[in-house]
Amino acid sequence: MPAEPRSLYDPVRYIIDAGGKRLRPALTYLCTLQQQDCKWRQAAAAVEMLHTFTLVHDDIMDNAATRRGLKTLHELYDLNTAILAGDVLIALAETSLASGKYPQASEMMLEFAHSFRYVCEGQALDKEFEKNNSVSIEDYFRMIDLKSAKMIELAAVLGAYASGITDVEPFRLFAHHLGLAFQLRDDLLDLTSQNPSFGKSIGGDIVEGKRTFLFLRAYESITHVSEEEQQLLTRILHQQAKWDDVGFARIVFTKLGVIDESKKMIADHTNIAQAALKKIEHPAVQTALQHFSEYLLHREH
Ligand code: IPE
Ligand code: IPE
Ligand code: MG
Ligand code: MG
Ligand code: MG
Repeated sequence: MPAEPRSLYDPVRYIIDAGGKRLRPALTYLCTLQQQDCKWRQAAAAVEMLHTFTLVHDDIMDNAATRRGLKTLHELYDLNTAILAGDVLIALAETSLASGKYPQASEMMLEFAHSFRYVCEGQALDKEFEKNNSVSIEDYFRMIDLKSAKMIELAAVLGAYASGITDVEPFRLFAHHLGLAFQLRDDLLDLTSQNPSFGKSIGGDIVEGKRTFLFLRAYESITHVSEEEQQLLTRILHQQAKWDDVGFARIVFTKLGVIDESKKMIADHTNIAQAALKKIEHPAVQTALQHFSEYLLHREH
């Protein structure tokens, strides 16, 4: 990464060095056939940098103050710095992917461009839905597919391509369901995480009025709950909930059974992902991906 101008690259280095779980590059690696000479790092770094760009801009869009346990870029610096740091991460990601000089480079570049476009579409829907009072569960799944699952699919498919595989579809199907489970769990942890390494402010989705699976399901019960609970759900609907509503929201959502329902949905999509592994005719890769999916199912941050 270049050193200058520091006003551009210091913030980029800050957010990359902040860590994160690095799940996507790990997935890229696990989807290669793990041959000695397989060049997977350039593709893995490309996905991680594209993902990090989405986080930087997502935090602006979600008014988030904390990321990876640190101040978000727009909080630490300012809005323009965060926008530009996000932008240059896309260029760095493309540079990394191209530097791999992969035999299937054109397929990989196209996958990258599609995922980039899908994440923008998903983020647009996410923001649009905040003001939409008739979002369905189906709409929610379409939105999380675009904003999150597609990036996980990219990580998997690039790993498969990097190792010379031509039929990447079994990898895509596995990662698709893993990605849906991943965002369902992200939404669940946003309300329930107790792990200090979660690294984000608990309850941000309540305050922003996000149309999560939890909220949409809870809102379906609005006519069957107490007046106080109705008022809470209405505040979330109209993006008027405050940080001190978060604890009550956790109690109400738990009482309505939506936390358990979400856990079941996460387990269901993880099972579908695991079933898709049967189509990957490489036992060592199957086992590794099985373990990876188990880890994601139970993750606490
Ligand atoms: C957060 O992704 C953004 C979502 C798609 C939910 P991660 O939970 O993988 O974030 P880091 O990279 O570990 O910080
Ligand atoms: C993230 O969704 C999707 C992205 C494309 C970054 P969230 O807005 O729920 O992600 P977090 O919880 O802020 O990491
Ligand atoms: Mg968001
Ligand atoms: Mg966010
Ligand atoms: Mg979230």
